[in-house]
Amino acid sequence: MSGERKLFSKEEIKQHNDGRSCWLIIHDKVYDVTEFLEEHPGGEEVLLELAGSDGSESFEDVGHSTDAREIMEKYLVGELKEEERVKKEPKKDGCQLM
Ligand code: HEM
Repeated sequence: MSGERKLFSKEEIKQHNDGRSCWLIIHDKVYDVTEFLEEHPGGEEVLLELAGSDGSESFEDVGHSTDAREIMEKYLVGELKEEERVKKEPKKDGCQLM
């Protein structure tokens, strides 16, 4: 695939929210899973439910395999715009594990 990285806003991604065009945000990356809906071992319903939104948490909750993580690269279409990404700022107080 090309090295070009397209940047999308949440507003744009939100338009792709059904079986005709189903996009997901997972860890600030944008995936067009329209063609994958029928193949998803977890069923198309769960993907359609999250269509156009951020599925990072659900994706991790399931504990997807490395296989799954490789498959998803095929459907990568771009990334979330810098300013809309979830900021992972270090906590000011409390312990830091890393
Ligand atoms: C591009 C995104 C995704 C890809 C490529 C993908 C791929 C896969 C694959 C290959 C499996 C088989 C088990 C494994 O290898 O881990 C699986 C299972 C599953 N996935 Fe996904 N998945 C994606 C997103 C999601 C999301 C957002 C959800 C939301 C809940 C989800 C829910 C599930 C569930 C519930 C199963 C378990 C099915 C079962 O074992 O009965 N997946 N997925």
